[in-house]
Amino acid sequence: MKIFLDTADISEIRKVAKWGVLDGVTTNPTLFAKTSGSSYEEVLKEICTITSGPVSAEVVAEDVEGMLREGRAFAKLAPNIVVKVPMSEEGLEAIATFADEGIKTNCTLIFTANQGLLAAKAGASLLSPFVGRLDDINQDGMIVIRELVDIVTIHDLETEVLAASIRNPLHMTQAALAGAHVATLPFKVLQQMAHHPLTDSGIKQFRTDWEKARVALDTQKGSDKAKAAAAPTKPGA
Ligand code: E4P
Repeated sequence: MKIFLDTADISEIRKVAKWGVLDGVTTNPTLFAKTSGSSYEEVLKEICTITSGPVSAEVVAEDVEGMLREGRAFAKLAPNIVVKVPMSEEGLEAIATFADEGIKTNCTLIFTANQGLLAAKAGASLLSPFVGRLDDINQDGMIVIRELVDIVTIHDLETEVLAASIRNPLHMTQAALAGAHVATLPFKVLQQMAHHPLTDSGIKQFRTDWEKARVALDTQKGSDKAKAAAAPTKPGA
């Protein structure tokens, strides 16, 4: 299973790349809005120097021509750019055109298995069902992941299910068990995955016991030395 980082924050991407678990990055206009100082294109180019995995760049146009214009420009930035296109009638047309041009796409804002099926048929390389946003409105987002993974498997579709809008470590475990090919996670959730209170307290306890053992050993050695120095020397020795 691949793990993507859901961020446009360069320092987070650099950090996770060093952990050896980074397979790609997804960005969107909201995530870009949290950065400052660089254009979206500059940020994307920099991300592509950190990972050679797929880097999703989202179009904001809602008409086909606009999506194609933005997407073609993104695709020129680096070979690993994947154009993120929203699920809509126009989006499907843009995805089909990008597929004909050999430009990879990630169909975003998927909330039903049927939307995912259409995006797969149109030629999207990645399907992004949003788990957390469905949970937010009291619908079980993980059902869409399960259904879509089954549909892709049953019909041997050439696409991958990317579990998006992942909000907590439980979402991640469930997406992995559902067979999602990819999950994209905020940095915070990746950090949460790496930790457990018993792991953290265990590390602390081992360190404390190690220090105690060293002090005890040093004290023992010191007292042995003192005893040896104080002992009377045997005659003839
Ligand atoms: C990634 O491709 C999506 O844009 C992202 O996961 C959405 O997450 P959110 O619902 O937490 O904004």
